[in-house]
Amino acid sequence: MNVLAFESSCDETGVALVSTQAVGRPKLRAHALYSQVQMHAAYGGVVPELASRDHIRRALPLTRQVLREAGATLAEVDVVAFTRGPGLAGALLVGAGVACALAAALGKPTLGVHHLEGHLLSPFLSTDAPEFPFVALLVSGGHTQLMRVDAVGHYTLLGESIDDAAGEAFDKSAKLLGLDYPGGPALARLAVQGRADAYSLPRPLLHSGNLDFSFAGLKTAVLTQHRKLGSSPTAEQLADLAASTQAAIVEVLVTKSLAALKSCGLQRLVVSGGVGANTELRRQLNEATARRGLRVYYPELELCTDNGAMIALAAAMRLQSGVAKASMDYAFDVRPRWPLDQIDQIDRVIPVGA
Ligand code: KG4
Ligand code: ZN
Repeated sequence: MNVLAFESSCDETGVALVSTQAVGRPKLRAHALYSQVQMHAAYGGVVPELASRDHIRRALPLTRQVLREAGATLAEVDVVAFTRGPGLAGALLVGAGVACALAAALGKPTLGVHHLEGHLLSPFLSTDAPEFPFVALLVSGGHTQLMRVDAVGHYTLLGESIDDAAGEAFDKSAKLLGLDYPGGPALARLAVQGRADAYSLPRPLLHSGNLDFSFAGLKTAVLTQHRKLGSSPTAEQLADLAASTQAAIVEVLVTKSLAALKSCGLQRLVVSGGVGANTELRRQLNEATARRGLRVYYPELELCTDNGAMIALAAAMRLQSGVAKASMDYAFDVRPRWPLDQIDQIDRVIPVGA
């Protein structure tokens, strides 16, 4: 079975082709990605209307590129998948619309996929893939969640951020330090030159006794500290503040991940989402898990941030495991807000004329 998928939930257009095999995990045939980061950088953040319009421009050229690189044709596509949510409504509608129109033209079924399930399953495209069950730390621009994953489609929420996501904490702190959007990678680069213990910043909910996170207070502390540095802080002070901010976020993520493994009695941790690309987070997680005889798995670095490959993979794994059926009903909808533990509570699409 060949699954062609579209990802358009935010500011990256991703298209990919995945093939299932008689034995083993689905195989990525090709994927292509167009990042709108440069376009949005001029505004200091994602402009939803511009994002939607750009997805329209990129979807078909990227599809042609993927088919060419995979040496495949549209006639070989069995299912067309798309990100159904969560994300920006207009941006999601572009991917869903293109996917369903293409599927209708080909006479093939479609499948809407949960974006976070894509992130969660993305390490299954690595050579070093995990086995079920595991604890997943999902750390993206919009979400910070710990999930217990027993099988495809069987997800239990263990804890989540009650305010800002970890990626948001990186991005907002970076903005305060005068770094360009998207701030996460920029702050991480600056942090390399700084001292992580230079400033004492809060570790919110570190010892709360549950697996929830809170990062809004950290952002305020970074703002306060930045103001104390006056109107022209030195490069060294900024690097120190970046390193201290990163250290606070990473310590909370590592501590809570270990606590989640302990409370579930599991040995495997999967880390995914954009913040999973952070080198310091990976270094500390590798060290902490190795010391305790635990294992940690990551997606390939290029598949940490948004991409079409993870959506094609999630669709293929859902179909293979029988938890989802592709549909020939092309009346699609999207779900901008869609908790992952409600993945199977699918709203009915209202029939035309009803
Ligand atoms: O998963 P993702 O690509 O998009 C969402 O679904 O949100 O995650 C994007 C987030 C942004 O907040 C970005 O700043 C952060 O991931 N990010 C990083 C790094 N690379 C991406 N944060 C810290 N360090 C990085 N190296
Ligand atoms: Zn994402």
